[in-house]
Amino acid sequence: MARVSLPMWPMGAEQGSWRLVVLGSEDVPALVEIERRCFPGDPWPAQAFAEEIGNPVSHLHGLVDMTHDAPRLLAGFCLFWHVGDEVEVLNVGVDPQWRRRGLGKVLVDHMVDCARALGVTRLVLDVRPSNVAARTLYQHGGFEEIGRRKRYYANGEDGIVMCRWLVQP
Ligand SMILES: CC(C)(COP(=O)(O)OP(=O)(O)OC[C@H]1O[C@@H](n2cnc3c(N)ncnc32)[C@H](O)[C@@H]1OP(=O)(O)O)[C@@H](O)C(=O)NCCC(=O)NCCS
Repeated sequence: MARVSLPMWPMGAEQGSWRLVVLGSEDVPALVEIERRCFPGDPWPAQAFAEEIGNPVSHLHGLVDMTHDAPRLLAGFCLFWHVGDEVEVLNVGVDPQWRRRGLGKVLVDHMVDCARALGVTRLVLDVRPSNVAARTLYQHGGFEEIGRRKRYYANGEDGIVMCRWLVQP
């Protein structure tokens, strides 16, 4: 599959020196650390991230501090698939120490920009009803609830399906 050149968005100085980059296998240890802090109940293991890095439909991008030399300082990440006419958001996380600074919004806006560049009509995702932070973030990013999957999560919680249309359905 041809890889489309996706927008990489540099942050403004007032929010620090964060920059969006494509993540690779060298970033897996930092990803696993953030993932554990974001989802203490059921974090993705290193193997899951490694598999996504090798998956041709997968895009794994992160916000790194450009003033920090190797190893990279990673504040957050987003992972999405490009499948057919759709971008499916699989995972988004911001390290707790960097939250409420607009970085989650940067990641959501970035995925929307990428989806436009890929020429799809919509972005879709699942979110827990109890995850007020993520639901609010997505709503502010133009996502709307389009359905529920009963007992979607391992603890029996429903999944809310949210969609961000790029063209009218
Ligand atoms: C959801 C998450 C990515 C938000 O990251 P963030 O960098 O703190 O988000 P932002 O600072 O960009 O917040 C943007 C807006 O989202 C909403 N928001 C973010 N955190 C919120 C919270 N805890 N409660 C209510 N609203 C929240 C607010 O409207 C916020 O705007 P404001 O700060 O001007 O009020 C972060 O909390 C996280 O990583 N959570 C754990 C992982 C997760 O749940 N991922 C999503 C899985 S579907």
